[in-house]
Amino acid sequence: MKNLFFVLSSFLVFLPLLVSCDERNVYIVYFGEHDGSKTLQEIEDNHHSSLFSVKKNEEDARSSLLYSYKNSINGFAAVLTAEEASMLSEKDEVVSVSQTKPNAWSLQTTRSWEFIGAEGGMEFGRNVDSEIEGNLQRKANYGKNIIVGLLDSGIWPESRSFSDDGFGPVPKSWKGICQTGDSFNSSHCNRKLIGARYYLKAFEHYNGRLNNSFDYRSPRDHDGHGSHTSATVGGRKVEKASAIGGFASGTASGGAPLVRLAMYKVCWPINPNMSLAQGDTCLEADMLAAIDDAIGDGVNVISISIGSNQPINYTNDGIAMGALHAIKKNIVVSCAAGNSGPAPATGESATPHKLKKRMYPLVYAGDVVEPHVPKNSTAGQCLPGSLSPKKTKGKIVLCMRGEGMRVGKGEEVKRAGAVGMILGNSPLNGNDLAIDPHVLPATQVVADDAISIFNYIKSSNKSVAQIDPGMTIVNTKPAPSMASFSSMGPNPLVADILKPDITAPGVNILSAWSESSSPTKLDMDHRVVKYNFDSGTSMACPHVAGVIALVKAIHPTWSSAAIRSALMTTATLTNNLGKPISTASGEIAKPFNYGSGHVRPRKASDPGLVYDASYTDYLLFLCSVGVQKVDPSFNCPKISPSVHDLNHPSLAISQLSGTMTAKRIVTNVGGKNSLYRASVSPPQGFLVKVDPNELYFKDVGEKQSFTITVTAKGSHKASNSTQGEYSFGSYTWNDGMHVVRSPIAVAVSQA
Ligand SMILES: *[C@@H]1O[C@H](CO)[C@@H](O)[C@H](O)[C@H]1NC(C)=O
Ligand SMILES: *[C@@H]1O[C@H](CO)[C@@H](O)[C@H](O)[C@H]1NC(C)=O
Ligand SMILES: *[C@@H]1O[C@H](CO)[C@@H](O)[C@H](O)[C@H]1NC(C)=O
Ligand SMILES: *[C@@H]1O[C@H](CO)[C@@H](O)[C@H](O)[C@H]1NC(C)=O
Ligand SMILES: *[C@@H]1O[C@H](CO)[C@@H](O)[C@H](O)[C@H]1NC(C)=O
Ligand SMILES: *[C@@H]1O[C@H](CO)[C@@H](O)[C@H](O)[C@H]1NC(C)=O
Ligand SMILES: *[C@@H]1O[C@H](CO)[C@@H](O)[C@H](O)[C@H]1NC(C)=O
Repeated sequence: MKNLFFVLSSFLVFLPLLVSCDERNVYIVYFGEHDGSKTLQEIEDNHHSSLFSVKKNEEDARSSLLYSYKNSINGFAAVLTAEEASMLSEKDEVVSVSQTKPNAWSLQTTRSWEFIGAEGGMEFGRNVDSEIEGNLQRKANYGKNIIVGLLDSGIWPESRSFSDDGFGPVPKSWKGICQTGDSFNSSHCNRKLIGARYYLKAFEHYNGRLNNSFDYRSPRDHDGHGSHTSATVGGRKVEKASAIGGFASGTASGGAPLVRLAMYKVCWPINPNMSLAQGDTCLEADMLAAIDDAIGDGVNVISISIGSNQPINYTNDGIAMGALHAIKKNIVVSCAAGNSGPAPATGESATPHKLKKRMYPLVYAGDVVEPHVPKNSTAGQCLPGSLSPKKTKGKIVLCMRGEGMRVGKGEEVKRAGAVGMILGNSPLNGNDLAIDPHVLPATQVVADDAISIFNYIKSSNKSVAQIDPGMTIVNTKPAPSMASFSSMGPNPLVADILKPDITAPGVNILSAWSESSSPTKLDMDHRVVKYNFDSGTSMACPHVAGVIALVKAIHPTWSSAAIRSALMTTATLTNNLGKPISTASGEIAKPFNYGSGHVRPRKASDPGLVYDASYTDYLLFLCSVGVQKVDPSFNCPKISPSVHDLNHPSLAISQLSGTMTAKRIVTNVGGKNSLYRASVSPPQGFLVKVDPNELYFKDVGEKQSFTITVTAKGSHKASNSTQGEYSFGSYTWNDGMHVVRSPIAVAVSQA
């Protein structure tokens, strides 16, 4: 049945008008949440009868139901025509019906296609693990008994990172399962990896049955990404872990090495014809089923390194919907925000291939292309099939970044018979370097160096080069810094909530890998590794999840919002030279690059004050942004509160006209009898007043409220700001021990 549909949908491309009325898509039909009075069977029966009411017959209703969400989320995913979807949305009990996009979501690594301006990654020049270890890990007992669920591409259970040596019994609260499947049975779970499930019904609706030469129909990881993120959050300490070629040899360890892990595999390779190196896709209805199960299974933290390449909003975003339910159960959700971040300015590569130490002829790729390749700047980018073996053989080739995959450029250079590659950053990439496991001797250079090399080639008739064997570089300074072309604010959804929240390491992260794919995932690459480098917000997200797990272990009763606040208000703005974190081009980074700053695990466990928020506060926030119907048991007030009054640890005002006052409430989580004083660093062109500017807390747990008033200086014109042009500042509470900082981003409205 599904295969039949797959054939049908490929015809649709050619005959959209003829068959579009029969087009069937995956929809999420949402009823809100469970009141706890019904059994799972009753819930499923309800979903079924709802579906049956718009379907021709019982059989059709049964076969079109993909998932019944019944743990926390009340709803289902089903294959529907537009007409059926519209009939369902008219029913009283239905909160919303949304069509899910077939290929909108993907794993957030930079290993996939890089497009100018949409690419980047984060680097933790300083040693992540030692920073976390500072004593937070010990204080948190290494995250013992915290359960972290990941939505990802699966897990390689045999990795030493997931060994359960010395672990006590699985927590009694755990209700999850170890789902069997292709090369995966119940023995693959242990006291460390306590749960594993997989979800592919929506995926298969759009892509046909999974071809088992490309992935395991089970929780086992083929891609490598899921093993990497899992080990980053909570892998065991593994001595002598190293990537291919022995780079970064040392101890690999997750942020919280004693947490329990549960894998929810939701990402799958799309089209067998596409290179697996392009990464997996993840379907919303599958992800929502995974989040619903994770909530029911009893995880404490959910880490999702998956992002959308399409515009989303709160109502059509399954992850946002799932996260809201998770928040209600005090489960903290850490999501990748898009790729952004810093990197050291050194030639870098993780290729194990060593070039004999002598000079080789050096050519620019654009000068050695096949005759059919257009002679423009794309010619220098070593795209597949572009290089002429006759002109390239035995030489070192300068390839420019831009389009295509970095490791794919190496593959092309190797195909054409070159002995080595210099991968040059375009000006847009600036100083942003990634360590890649290239298939030939290779190095990557920053934009300025690439231009010098290019000029050298052009100015000399006998340009030569040599590539020295790579070295592992530690303690690169300055670090961290941010790439200027990160995915940045303002928040496209609600400009009055500053996003991203926080920055964490994400470039060149060494972690566990799948042994069934190669480090590059290119077809021609048959190398097998246990550990590999990868970059992207995918890697930053599990770092944050690891820190969250530690903070949660120390403060088990803290809400999701309190933990987020703790991480945000203690983040740092300085690098390891004590200078402001900069962008790849050397400018001082801004809150649109890093939100509140770079996560500082040691401080996060003792923030002094937190900005707490409840499930109801988030519902009120949704009312403020016009999303009225989310939870049937909750009605928006007649007058919704201002978006600016969400008790968030940052303040963004996208359209200030004159003056604006926002309310905040802080909860004392530090010591008794503490006195906090406010200080302000106003955005240029604005006045900021915090009132009162002193807060006294007699007890722990006590709450105090205050207001922040932001006023544009003089007239709009005089403040030298045009609409959309932001000015940044901050306000900070300080009791002499704790520094509780909140960034401010403000732009005036065009009167
Ligand atoms: C699970 O599979 C492994 C082989 O990968 C096998 O040795 C083991 O006996 C299996 N366990 C069960 C419970 O089937
Ligand atoms: C799965 O992929 C392999 C390798 O490309 C191919 O030979 C095989 O025909 C595919 N199987 C199906 C059922 O499409
Ligand atoms: C895959 O490639 C083959 C051969 O190039 C082509 O015939 C087939 O239509 C492609 N399949 C898909 C799903 O694109
Ligand atoms: C959100 O997305 C849905 C479906 O794509 C659309 O119908 C709705 O208008 C959007 N809402 C907002 C506030 O943009
Ligand atoms: C180079 O030429 C090709 C073919 O005409 C075109 O597709 C591509 O966009 C051009 N690239 C640039 C940077 O102009
Ligand atoms: C390169 O060689 C050409 C002709 O062989 C000559 O005209 C030109 O001056 C040379 N350029 C340099 C920089 O040596
Ligand atoms: C006004 O904006 C310009 C351009 O952004 C800047 O160079 C100048 O310093 C600003 N002047 C003031 C008074 O802020």
